[in-house]
Order: sequence, then C-alpha cells, then structure tokens
Amino acid sequence: MSDCNTRLIAPSVLASDWGIVAEEVRKADTAGADWIHLDVMDGHFVENISFGPQFVSAIRPHTKLTLDVHLMITHPDKYLPMFIKAGADRITVHVEAEHDVSATLKVIRDAGLQCGIALNPATPFDDVVPYLDQIDLLLVMTVVPGFGGQSFMETETMPKVATGREFREKNGLNYHIEVDGGIDLDTAEIAAAHGANVLVAGTALYKAPDMAAAVSQMRG
Ligand code: DX5
Ligand code: ZN
Repeated sequence: MSDCNTRLIAPSVLASDWGIVAEEVRKADTAGADWIHLDVMDGHFVENISFGPQFVSAIRPHTKLTLDVHLMITHPDKYLPMFIKAGADRITVHVEAEHDVSATLKVIRDAGLQCGIALNPATPFDDVVPYLDQIDLLLVMTVVPGFGGQSFMETETMPKVATGREFREKNGLNYHIEVDGGIDLDTAEIAAAHGANVLVAGTALYKAPDMAAAVSQMRG
C-alpha cells in the first residue's frame, strides 16, 4: 500500500459523461490520476441511485489504475462478492450502514482487496474508532453523500480528518485518509493541511478545461 503521506488524486466517475465512460476513465488515467473513484448508490442508504457491479466490470478493462469503490448502500456485505468479481481493488463501506462492520472488512481483506470505512458529516469520529486497526483507508465524507457538485462542509468534517491522523500516528496504524465531496483546488489544500492524503474529486476534475493541469495542481 502506498505511503499514507503521499498525496493521491482520485477522480470520481460520478461526474463524468457516462455515455462515453470508457473514454472518461482513460482520460483520467492519461491526466495522471492515481485512482479511479466509483460511487455506488442504492437509492436507500442515500437519496440517489448510481451504478452497480456490472458498471465496475465494464470499466475494469479500460484502466490499470486502482478502482476505489465507495459503497453508499445499506447492505454492503450482501454485494461484496459481486464487486470483488467485478474487479474492485479497494472497497469502502459506511459505518452507518446495516452490517457487521468488522465481518465486512474481513471479507474484503480475505479476498485480497484493500478495505476502507467511511463516515458521513453527521457521524461522530468515535463511531469508527473500533475499526481503525482493521482498515487500509478512512473516508471522511465532506458532503452529505448522494450527489456530486455540493459544497465542502469544513467545520463538520475537518476536525475528524485531524483526529484521524492523530489517532493513526498515536497508535502506529497505517491507513490512508480520504475526503470526498466538494473537493476543488482550494478545499483540497484545506483537507490536506488537516491530514487527508487521498482527494476524491468529481466536478472539479471532470468539468475542468484541462484535467491534467487540474490533477497536477490538486497534487500540490
Ligand atoms: C457522494 C459522492 C460525491 C462525489 C464527488 O455524494 O461521493 O461526493 O464523489 O462529488 P464532487 O467532487 O462533484 O463534489
Ligand atoms: Zn465517493
């Protein structure tokens, strides 16, 4: 696993043109992105429906980049085999979802993938503490999940990013800290200053006139 202090850029396909998604994934790849972030939504855990495992397998052959799958679904454990088979490299699940979190994380790791846990802006950091020694990535949502193009929620989320870094250093752990939602060139710097090293961005990258320039600027 790459060093959790290296800044990584992960474009979110949610903001791409799905009609030419293979091209959009290749575009992110050639633009120098590190990971491809895939936002899976079930219309139940969040108020939107996006795509499922078949969409992930459709993307798989078009890039060698890490497929960073973010499950915003109520029963992530039920769908793990399908996303593992589809070619995900990392699967991140929400602590607020209805599952045995440790069991879910173990299934992901036992399949040879990296695992992550996500928490929404309203969820206290303490809710993820029991799992921090079982993960490769902590995703601190910086918007209420469901839609791209929302505004960065600084006050509710940056203290949790900072706490995530402190906890990791104090306990000799080694997980990435990822932020997702409203990340642009300015908010990326705020998040990185607090300790985030993986920056998920949909609108800021896919709507940029020059994606490669935006990726390299976001990398700092
Ligand atoms: C949750 C999604 C979005 C998306 C990023 O709603 O996870 O946060 O990835 O959206 P932008 O970068 O457009 O705010
Ligand atoms: Zn996401």
